[in-house]
Amino acid sequence: MDSRIVVGMDIGTTKVCTVIAKINEINELEIMGVGIVPSKGLRKGVVINIDSTATSIAASVEKAEIQAGIEVKGVYLGISGGHVEGINSKGVIAVSDKNHEINETDVRRVIDAATAIVIPVDREVIHIIPQEFIVDDQDGIKDPVGMSGIRLEALVNVITAAATSVNNILKSVNKAGFESSDIVLEPLAAAQAILTEEEKELGVVLVDIGGGTTDYVIFEGGSLRKTGIFSIGGNHITNDIAFGLKTPPIAAEEIKRKYGSAIVDYIPEEETIEVPGLGGRTPVLEKRRALAQIIEPRIEEILSLVNRELEKNGKKDFFAAGVVLTGGVALTPHIADLAGEVFNLPVRIGRPLGIKGLKDMVDSPIYSTAVGLTLYAQDNLPKLGPTNTRDDEKNFKSIIDRMRDWFNEFF
Ligand SMILES: Nc1ncnc2c1ncn2[C@@H]1O[C@H](COP(=O)(O)OP(=O)(O)OP(=O)(O)O)[C@@H](O)[C@H]1O
Ligand SMILES: [Mg+2]
Repeated sequence: MDSRIVVGMDIGTTKVCTVIAKINEINELEIMGVGIVPSKGLRKGVVINIDSTATSIAASVEKAEIQAGIEVKGVYLGISGGHVEGINSKGVIAVSDKNHEINETDVRRVIDAATAIVIPVDREVIHIIPQEFIVDDQDGIKDPVGMSGIRLEALVNVITAAATSVNNILKSVNKAGFESSDIVLEPLAAAQAILTEEEKELGVVLVDIGGGTTDYVIFEGGSLRKTGIFSIGGNHITNDIAFGLKTPPIAAEEIKRKYGSAIVDYIPEEETIEVPGLGGRTPVLEKRRALAQIIEPRIEEILSLVNRELEKNGKKDFFAAGVVLTGGVALTPHIADLAGEVFNLPVRIGRPLGIKGLKDMVDSPIYSTAVGLTLYAQDNLPKLGPTNTRDDEKNFKSIIDRMRDWFNEFF
């Protein structure tokens, strides 16, 4: 078994997507197989039925395995849902060395101090992400090791999730016959695939609008600053269309994808579309604008939720690289224009970057998370070991222990 194989698995509200990739001799990530199937068993990003989720997982892996010609054992998983929370926390220590030179032990101690917050027993820590260090009065330091100072301060972002939701995802994956190498916050994985280092440095907001959730992450000065998740997404748009145009949800989904627009005014007034009736009633002709009139306010509402969070921060002008939209809803025509109006910032649509191999297969905002998980795996490989090995010693406990170990994280 090639130890340089990494597998990312995005268990979304609407689809399960498995991406098998190989890290080649010059450390590039080559996509080798992709398996995407509709997901059954999730609501708003959260597993509500383990058996159905396991069935979708198995089907998705099988597709990817056939294409790659590789047997999957361990996977990197994404996690999302309204239960995920990120909090900023601060720790302060006195530098131990008598010459006041900061060493790795000090860094570990100050991170420990910053994370010595009370985590309720019903929550699991997913990531501990150091944001910046302050040495005496100098702030904005990324790596304080070797610097001189008396007082060392750390600002960290601690991301936690409901323990039951974490366990239900792990159980679904195990039930399908696979090991979980690690769990990663989905929008952070997506960020790995679609944001450039320059954007993260300048200040950027990534918004992933999926079927059941809208996730955002904010980067500034190269570090993650804030994350948030709303339990609303493209499925709500489909439901609105089904209700508004009196058509079955399956037809509503199809019409949305074929004729949708995020801006009403871009649709010629006279254009019509055929809308299937409920319960076998004859189809009716509707104005295509009527469809856009349902979509536009819903997307505007979703984007406004995120915009409100940015305004709470009170420094929207700092996001020089603007907003990057991804997830399936980012495929809605003209959504970048609408988002530009809502955020009053430059907007682009993000799809996976910086990969080789079968990259055309994942050239869509729908694949950002799954590809991002393989890139995350690649980054963490030297520390965690290859993902695609079966290790019977591994169990839930060890994954959760590892999630608590900040040193394996983004530092
Ligand atoms: N061409 C399109 N136009 C508009 N919407 C689309 C298009 N293609 C897909 N979508 C919508 O994107 C959503 C699915 O996106 P995605 O695959 O990112 O979600 P997911 O990862 O399964 O869900 P989540 O991340 O919320 O758990 C669905 O609501 C779907 O209707
Ligand atoms: Mg998703």
